[in-house]
Amino acid sequence: MLSSKLAGIGKYLPSNVVTNQDLTAYMETSDEWIVERTGIKERRYAHRTNETTTTMAVEAAKIAIERAGTTAAEIDFIVFATLSPDYYFPGCGVLVQRAMGMKEIGALDIRNQCSGFVYALSVADQFIKTGMYKNILVIGSEKHSFGLDFSTRGRNVSVIFGDGAGAVVLQPATSDGQGILSTHLHSDGEAAEILAMYNPGTHANHWGEYANFDAAEIGQMFMSHNMIDSAQNFPFMDGPSVFKKAIVKFPEVILEALHNNGYTPSDLNMLIPHQANLRIAQFVQQKLGLRDDQVYNNIMQYGNTTAASVPIALCEAYENNLIKEDDLVCLAAFGSGFTWASALIKW
Ligand code: UT7
Repeated sequence: MLSSKLAGIGKYLPSNVVTNQDLTAYMETSDEWIVERTGIKERRYAHRTNETTTTMAVEAAKIAIERAGTTAAEIDFIVFATLSPDYYFPGCGVLVQRAMGMKEIGALDIRNQCSGFVYALSVADQFIKTGMYKNILVIGSEKHSFGLDFSTRGRNVSVIFGDGAGAVVLQPATSDGQGILSTHLHSDGEAAEILAMYNPGTHANHWGEYANFDAAEIGQMFMSHNMIDSAQNFPFMDGPSVFKKAIVKFPEVILEALHNNGYTPSDLNMLIPHQANLRIAQFVQQKLGLRDDQVYNNIMQYGNTTAASVPIALCEAYENNLIKEDDLVCLAAFGSGFTWASALIKW
């Protein structure tokens, strides 16, 4: 069976740097609290009106496509991971197809939040393995800054997230043993609501407060003034519970990838963990007995960019010459759902 290689990789970070100190203008928080609890010093916010999840994705994709030695016209499939799409529907995949003037290829959107990019990579990998496609564009992109509660009420969520995009082009590997060795996908929906954005959503049909609405009022079950007035349109997160689950599932899924291919943590050249919280990454590093040079973190500069964080970190590590040919690289992510995933790559 064919395997797939990451033939090109690119990233895009908006130029607008927002420091922890900048956030104190909107909410009661401090640089000290944010650095101590998360490791984040600053993040990037997309331009309010000129940049979207799709425009950032296109910038990252242009670099990935060029580095893969191909062109937008040769891309034969798009897989796009995001939780902050330009529209509720249609998804961002078709917007990339349009913006880059691609052929009438398939475009698939993935809704798996923090593990979205690794899920997307796994989906693309299967299409390469079967020989169905030869040049797949895989994207993770997020514009969080447009949908966060910047009052003190929302500070436990809003200080964490940042904007950005990363993209790779997957192609059939050209030599034996090169490329994606395996991917591992998991979910546990038991606690789906502890890291979630509930509204707008069809769950509203279950709410007692709307039970007697007639057809003319039905639109309010989806998006009401009350929802906005009571800030129910912002993401909710029970941070400590997410933290506790993350530090169990991250090491588990990384070891699953390594053991599945006959490796141990000492064989790893680079672990790229989803940039959720520097404390989580440090815990995972310690648990697996990895040295500092075996783990790449950049949450300090960019915050948590959800589906974009793994490809941005991978791209930055690559651009800094920290990943070389034949290196063993593991991507791993955990987030809302819960969903978690890993990919082991021979570079
Ligand atoms: O990528 C998606 C997956 N998400 C994650 O992996 C997130 C995992 N969780 C975390 O990273 C951490 O739980 C957080 C960084 C979100 C929060 O850190 P924590 O140490 O768990 O804090 P906490 O939520 O237990 O809150 C501690 C205190 C509270 O005050 P009281 O009740 O002790 O008086 C919060 O109100 O810190 C307060 N607090 C803040 N204070 C200043 C919460 N957010 C802030 C803030 N600035 N931004």
